[in-house]
Amino acid sequence: MQDPSDNHKISRLKKAHIAGQSLAREFYKDPEIYKTEIENLFLKHWLFAGHVSQIPNPGDFILCEFDTESVIVVRSKSDEIKAHINVCRHRGSKICLEKSGHKKHFSCPYHAWTYDLDGRLVSNNQMPEYFKPDENSLHQVHVQLVRGLIFICLAEAPLSLECLNEQTSEVFDLLELQNLKLAKKTSYPIAANWKLAVENYQECYHCAPSHKEFSRIHAMARPLEVFQKRKEEFNQVNPPGGLMTEINAYFDLARPGDEGFQYGRNPLVENMRSGSKDGSPLAPLLGKLPEYTGGASELMIGPLMYFLIYDDHMVGYRFLPLSQSECVCDIYWFVRSDAREGIDYDISNLTWLWDVTTKADQQIIENNQKGVNSRYYSSGTLSEMEHFLQSFLRWYLVALS
Ligand code: FES
Ligand SMILES: [Fe+2]
Repeated sequence: MQDPSDNHKISRLKKAHIAGQSLAREFYKDPEIYKTEIENLFLKHWLFAGHVSQIPNPGDFILCEFDTESVIVVRSKSDEIKAHINVCRHRGSKICLEKSGHKKHFSCPYHAWTYDLDGRLVSNNQMPEYFKPDENSLHQVHVQLVRGLIFICLAEAPLSLECLNEQTSEVFDLLELQNLKLAKKTSYPIAANWKLAVENYQECYHCAPSHKEFSRIHAMARPLEVFQKRKEEFNQVNPPGGLMTEINAYFDLARPGDEGFQYGRNPLVENMRSGSKDGSPLAPLLGKLPEYTGGASELMIGPLMYFLIYDDHMVGYRFLPLSQSECVCDIYWFVRSDAREGIDYDISNLTWLWDVTTKADQQIIENNQKGVNSRYYSSGTLSEMEHFLQSFLRWYLVALS
């Protein structure tokens, strides 16, 4: 139960927030605000758990973990993807300790209660006669697939993904996201509040000073007027529709009851074809794309999950809080399902750009947290290049309560 004085504190801080400024220190430091964020954001929105190609066979599983929660995402015997809360119904031990793998069943390491892939309790012993195993299945949470991308939601009544599926169908038909495979996943732990990591991802004001590699490839890192000129040229060459679809239903623009999402396409720097050291291709073209376009798509599903779709690979970014002062950024590199490692793509070339970029981000986000920890920190004025971050903050302040 939340203390009413916390609500009072949150409304006071919300009222005091000035549009166009960064958040007050309490938003990054106050434990009650963190608790409210978990309840109102992380337990209510869809979270990216992985791709179907990561669990191709019955019994294959991956965990999705944040704050105090752990969810087992598993392919069942009937080939469905299910999500079970990783907490034993006996005395609450965590059941599955490995982050991914294959199991015939899930056996609790404490007193060996055993659950099948559907989460049903199938083995326990020396229990009293009145004990009903069928009332002790693992708690399940919602699962939905968006073209092979697995999303889970811990809310009782999740936000709708229907609008997303309808509006993106043309572009997803072209890209065939269901026809991908995970080439590599790396977790980057960040000693900072999760919002500093998400805020950093929402703006490219820092790209020129902090990411020289990214700036060589992505036009977005250039000053606003240079980027806009390049985007106009790009839009003239590439007619609207298809890959060039623009959908803005993100953050505060999402329809009530719908999960927020956004899709758009931005140009790379002239003559660049992919996110490699010299802009040359990295892997076979995705889906039905006939040729390189010199652009990359930005896709956001829910407030915390982003995908950058080059013509020949897709990078997924997932931000999850571990505690108030620590979060993790998981990066996923996907290629076409038939691409052969070492022949059609090279892992170190494929992962180079976003590994070097995320390591630099890790550092700047942690420096940001150190400054916010100081008693001298106060809200600062945001730049014109931080308009997407401003949408995030507007949405966050409403979503918080
Ligand atoms: S806590 Fe799992 S079997 Fe006892
Ligand atoms: Fe960055």
